[in-house]
This record gives sequence, structure tokens and C-alpha cells, in this order.
Amino acid sequence: MTCRWHGQNHQLLQLHFLLVLLMAGRCSGGVTGQDKQPFCPLGQCINCMHCNGACLDDCSCYSSINVCCCGAPPGHYSRGYEKVPCPGGSYQNVTGQWRCEPCNTSGQLYDITYRGSIDLLDCYEARCESRGASQANYSQWQAENCRNSTFVETTMMSHPPSEAFCSAMTPAIKSRGCSWNDKTGVGRTAGVSSSLLLAMAVLVVPVVPDYR
Ligand SMILES: *[C@@H]1O[C@H](CO)[C@@H](O)[C@H](O)[C@H]1NC(C)=O
Ligand SMILES: *[C@@H]1O[C@H](CO)[C@@H](O)[C@H](O)[C@H]1NC(C)=O
Ligand SMILES: *[C@@H]1O[C@H](CO)[C@@H](O)[C@H](O)[C@H]1NC(C)=O
Ligand SMILES: *[C@@H]1O[C@H](CO)[C@@H](O)[C@H](O)[C@H]1NC(C)=O
Repeated sequence: MTCRWHGQNHQLLQLHFLLVLLMAGRCSGGVTGQDKQPFCPLGQCINCMHCNGACLDDCSCYSSINVCCCGAPPGHYSRGYEKVPCPGGSYQNVTGQWRCEPCNTSGQLYDITYRGSIDLLDCYEARCESRGASQANYSQWQAENCRNSTFVETTMMSHPPSEAFCSAMTPAIKSRGCSWNDKTGVGRTAGVSSSLLLAMAVLVVPVVPDYR
């Protein structure tokens, strides 16, 4: 079994998904880091199923709108929308988390553009002295790209979240994902959000997914 959607439903699926995303944007009050109603529960992301072994184990799927909320894969966190790869200097070795963990050595400088670390070995790879070895102007590169893990964690935990830090990332972290603070996401234990329920009520044309 794979977790691809059935091919012939693909365009309908996209249409539905777009509508749902539009509704999610409208119904959650401007989707900021302070969002009280994430689309999926914190730690889960929209249609981000990853298959290592059992495919949909970490997903709650709503077949009438072809949307699944799945646990963010290792190396990522999610604030209830897209999965976000951990910034360099942090890692996540557990599925379904709403933040990343700081790398183990706080005084070490890490290349924050080294994204998606899943363990401390990745942290080791992200060290600036190894990543920047080929830079023509190391000090300039270091000033722009290197931070310690304490800085990364403090910045992502700050209130309000640091939009400057998040938007400078490649790929940029959207403001609705720019936080590791679990207080900003009230929907964590509430299951699927009201915007998703509303979207389900409005979208009456059923498109049944077909896993094969
Ligand atoms: C994640 O990493 C931490 C720190 O190294 C370790 O204690 C923990 O057992 C790991 N968890 C998993 C699921 O690998
Ligand atoms: C981490 O970096 C911040 C500023 O970038 C600095 O103030 C702090 O002292 C550093 N922490 C450690 C443990 O090196
Ligand atoms: C950090 O983790 C790496 C990789 O597991 C390890 O080699 C290193 O000794 C650790 N550093 C500290 C200060 O715990
Ligand atoms: C590196 O960049 C910095 C800042 O732009 C500059 O001041 C310095 O002269 C540069 N060094 C070299 C060797 O080009």
C-alpha cells in the first residue's frame, strides 16, 4: 500500500484542497503566530503523510474533503498547517511535534540554513566550521548564517515570534509557523479545528480517496 491519491481524482482533489486552504485562511483570523485555531492540531500538518512502514498511522483523514492531518515527520515541526524543517542548530527526532529541540552544544555555532536535522549527528554536520569551509569570505558568511542553539531556541520561543528570523530562512518560515511556544496553539488537544469542520459542511461534493 502506498499513500498516493488515486490519479483520476487529482484535479478535483486540488480544487477541494485549495478551497479548504482558503477557508482556513479566512476563518482563522489572518493566520499569525498567535493563531488560536490552527487547521490541524499542533504537531500535525496538512496532507504531509510520510511513509516509513505503515503509511497512514500518524494521520487523521477526512475523506469528504480529501484532507489528512498527519504527524510532522522527524526533522520537522508543525503549527497545524505545513510542516517546517527545523532551523540549523535544532533537531527533532520524534514524529508529530510542534517545536524542535536545540542541538546539544549551546556554545557551538551552527549554520541556521542547514535545515531538517533529525538527530545529534545532523547537528554535528550543521557546525559552522564544517559548513563554511569553502566560503570565500568566512567571517561575512558566518555573521549572516551562524548562530548558537540557545539563540535559535530563544528566538523561536519569543513572544511575539521573531518574524525577521523566520522570514530570512530559506525556505522562509511563514508567520503562522513562526513559533515553538505551545501556548500560542489552543487547538492542540481540541482535535480538528472549527475551520475544517466548516469547510467540510460547505464542500458537499464527495470525492472519495482511493489508496492502492
Ligand atoms: C531523541 O533524542 C534524545 C536525545 O538524544 C534521546 O534521548 C531520545 O531517546 C531520542 N528519541 C527517539 C525516539 O529517538
Ligand atoms: C549565543 O548567542 C547569543 C547571541 O547571538 C549570545 O548572547 C550568547 O551568549 C550565546 N550563548 C552561548 C552559550 O554561547
Ligand atoms: C553532542 O552530540 C554529539 C553527537 O552525538 C556528541 O558527539 C557530543 O559529544 C555531544 N556534546 C555534548 C556536549 O554533549
Ligand atoms: C569579508 O567581508 C567583510 C564584510 O563585508 C569585509 O569587511 C571584509 O573585508 C571581507 N574580507 C575579505 C577577505 O574579503
